[in-house]
Amino acid sequence: MCGIFAYTGNKESLPILLDGLQSLEYRGYDSVGIYIPNAGIVKSVGAVQELKKKITSTMVGTSGIAHLRWATHGEPTEVNAHPHVDCSDTIYVVHNGIIENYKELKEKLISLGHTFRSATDTEVLAHLIEHQLKETEDFELAVVASLHEVKGTYGIAVSYKGDPEKIIAARLGAPVVLGIGINKYFIASDASPLLRHTKDVVYLRDGDIAVLTPQNYRIRTYTDVEVIRKKQVLDFDVEQVKKDGYEHFMLKEIMEGPQVIENTIRGRLVPEKGLVKLGGLDAVNEQLRTIERIIIVGCGTAYYAGLVGEYMLEEYAGIPVEVEIGSEFRYRNAPVDKHTVLLAVSQSGETADTLEAIREAKRKGALTLGIVNAVGSTIARETDAGIYNHAGPEIGVASTKAFISQLTALALLTVHLGRQRGMSIDVGRNITKELKLLPEKIQSVLDQRELIYSLAQKYAGSRDFLYMGRKYNYPIAFEGALKLKEISYIHAEGCGAGEMKHGPIAMIDTEFPTLAIAPHDSVYEKMLSNIEEIKARKGKVLAIATEGDIRLTDIISDIIYIPQTLEMLTPILSAVPLQLFAYYTGVAKGFNVDRPRNLAKSVTVE
Ligand code: AGP
Repeated sequence: MCGIFAYTGNKESLPILLDGLQSLEYRGYDSVGIYIPNAGIVKSVGAVQELKKKITSTMVGTSGIAHLRWATHGEPTEVNAHPHVDCSDTIYVVHNGIIENYKELKEKLISLGHTFRSATDTEVLAHLIEHQLKETEDFELAVVASLHEVKGTYGIAVSYKGDPEKIIAARLGAPVVLGIGINKYFIASDASPLLRHTKDVVYLRDGDIAVLTPQNYRIRTYTDVEVIRKKQVLDFDVEQVKKDGYEHFMLKEIMEGPQVIENTIRGRLVPEKGLVKLGGLDAVNEQLRTIERIIIVGCGTAYYAGLVGEYMLEEYAGIPVEVEIGSEFRYRNAPVDKHTVLLAVSQSGETADTLEAIREAKRKGALTLGIVNAVGSTIARETDAGIYNHAGPEIGVASTKAFISQLTALALLTVHLGRQRGMSIDVGRNITKELKLLPEKIQSVLDQRELIYSLAQKYAGSRDFLYMGRKYNYPIAFEGALKLKEISYIHAEGCGAGEMKHGPIAMIDTEFPTLAIAPHDSVYEKMLSNIEEIKARKGKVLAIATEGDIRLTDIISDIIYIPQTLEMLTPILSAVPLQLFAYYTGVAKGFNVDRPRNLAKSVTVE
């Protein structure tokens, strides 16, 4: 997610703005920018350090706005960096969020004679305000009138050359915190940059518009009703703030699950027609109609996401799929041609093995697609087209929110390709409608944190663990085992439940517990039998089951329930308790769950 920061007061603004940006850097740093009224604007690709190299001492002023970008629309270039400005270089905007109707607004503004410089959605805001300012001749009214036209989410700060001390901020769906000092006021995406200036803050609510001057601040609604928001006093340190008060980034990112799915599906569902809109595939849509097979490539968690995608795409789009580990595919001489799609799944977009697999497939003429979280990353740039996750920066080394976003993106791709290939409108409607319900269903899983915490305490002493699942949850068995071993260092292995009798069951005894993923799906009865087989050998079993399941309670006591959903979407729900279980186990064992030993967040080497 992006970070915004703004200041107005009686001190030099440049050092305050740069310091604020430094505190927000964990939110993402594809690019960065700063504007000080009547002193100029400076932008840079990369982190704050890069910006500082371009700053001159002439940037003098007592107010300003600043921004750190985690790109969602438009590559991370200097032109796309915020602040964005209008035609007359008088209105400057920094924005966190997504303007869903930016294309139609941009067309309208271009028809009114506006010229755009960037590929971002944010720039439409600067031109809207410029247009409204001509009508209202009032900065505040122009901002309010502009926001009425916007659909989507925003946390913004706006500066106007004609009223240099004033900062106007607004919030809808993206956090904005107002910092209150003595003759100094701040706007920020979270409290981290405020702590060194003030502990008195107001968290704006959706629909709030704040007007700041060095003398005071006012909060109003769209309809100019003044609102009094309760002041709060910050009582935690900077590091905690970056984690929004959670103890670790990993937990914060697991808890972001509902919002992450919202962001992944936002603007992409057309439930009434049983369709999806994937703008990133527009350029290759006709080519996609003729493909004959898909090779999904990824590493680690991304590879397991690909395995789930195989079940989805084969069952609902009727396309033959194989899934490959990047480090193997790149050295195999796989038969690949122009009728093959190589679909790379990667959170960072920089994993060397996955990248080389793409290059190998391209050399053989394949169409290459990416499902990537980091906008503008190498894999995003080197694939022919793709789908961005919009999951926001994932700081914890263990991939959690990105994984459920990858599964969601694969479900969107399945509907897209399936509806090109005979998937009925009803099936398309069922899947798209169920995708809309996922955020609240994930929340109901997260609400069981206490139970999962207690199960982690109970099993944290285990030396070994077996995870078993079938069909759509076969990959989740492996992903759950990977989470446990990379966070708690317990030896855990995934297993197809049907494979138990072919060897793994020999390991089972009272000291070798099993986690069984057994939702109400087409292989539920088979899973029950596998659980019985383990119980018969005195093996302990924890299970993931569907809410309302009564048969499992007859045979085991440690059960975590997930809501009913379509079988193809159960992995998105069943993965979440396994992430929490691994997290709480790692914490119980006293390990650094955000930075597990020997691991790196992005494996950019072979
Ligand atoms: C998952 O928890 C691990 N951090 C690791 O397996 C990761 O998924 C893998 O390295 C792939 O990374 P990517 O998604 O950035 O390509």
